[in-house]
Amino acid sequence: MPTKSGGSAGIQPINDRLDSALLRIAGIVLLDAVAALLDTTVRGVAAGGAFILDTQLQRSYGDRRPAKMIEDTVDGTPWTVELPEGASSRDESFVLVRDGHRELIHLHDYARIYAVPGLYERVVQDLLQCRSPTVAVDGAVAATAELGRAMATLRVLDLGAGVGLVGELLRAAGVSAVVGLDNLAEARDACMRDRPGVYEDYLVADLEVAAPAVIDQLAEGQFEVLACVGALGGGHVPPGALIRALNALTGEALLVMTVHERWLDPDSVDPFSFAFRAMTAGGYLELLQASSFTHRLDMSGDPITFRLLIGRRTAPVPVDLI
Ligand SMILES: C[S@@+](CC[C@H](N)C(=O)[O-])C[C@H]1O[C@@H](n2cnc3c(N)ncnc32)[C@H](O)[C@@H]1O
Repeated sequence: MPTKSGGSAGIQPINDRLDSALLRIAGIVLLDAVAALLDTTVRGVAAGGAFILDTQLQRSYGDRRPAKMIEDTVDGTPWTVELPEGASSRDESFVLVRDGHRELIHLHDYARIYAVPGLYERVVQDLLQCRSPTVAVDGAVAATAELGRAMATLRVLDLGAGVGLVGELLRAAGVSAVVGLDNLAEARDACMRDRPGVYEDYLVADLEVAAPAVIDQLAEGQFEVLACVGALGGGHVPPGALIRALNALTGEALLVMTVHERWLDPDSVDPFSFAFRAMTAGGYLELLQASSFTHRLDMSGDPITFRLLIGRRTAPVPVDLI
């Protein structure tokens, strides 16, 4: 009596072939079901406040859902960042989990963010895909070349320097001297901790109220470029501080800034909006370039549009302009 495998070599009996085809289909269906189940389970767990996997995070972005989690370690102590499930564009906070504690941190609470090594970079640069530093530095390099100026001898003041990302990119592009300035001592501390040697000097000051000696010190720096990246409007560097920095530059210096397009709207009530229009209309700032780009994603995964503005300071700006 022939066994099931007793037919000619390589030819399966019809029942066997049907069996294996059915098995394959069942396998695929089962795998899909498991994948769907895992997806739901993992998201369900995330909604309950626990962790989800990095791969899920990527998939969530693909689905235009917010990212959920990143993990890192500082000196052997792990930390985790969670973004809220179903976040809206107005959400600006994330949860930092470390040492068993959960802290809600606003994206603009720079002092707290800078205190954790790598936290700003992982949340703002990696997770929310911030491009402002790269776009600004690329723009500065192109504008400098177009004006026939040499990068290697360029002196740049980086206003609102934060942890030093712009300074680091400028140095990588060949700029020999960059000085950082921020109103937070925590920004300088973080920069010295994570990017020592990037800046020739890093000043901590709020130029709007700074003593004349600080402004004099800036003027001695002989800066030909002022970079102000992601640090204008919305309660960041006030126009008075921007104008004082501009006036401390040398000659027909360049201003390179990235600004939310909302602050450029003529109807905007943000003080930056008025100051910018007054400077350009008054002939103190000649606009060389204005281009839109995606600054970063918001918490819901939607793009935030900024403008790269490159201008030339044509005359000292009167401080009573604003
Ligand atoms: C979004 S961060 C951008 C940091 C950096 N430019 C970058 O692109 O990575 C904004 C920075 O502006 C700084 N800032 C806010 N107000 C300021 C002021 N009045 N003077 C100087 N810096 C200020 C904040 O402390 C913060 O470090």
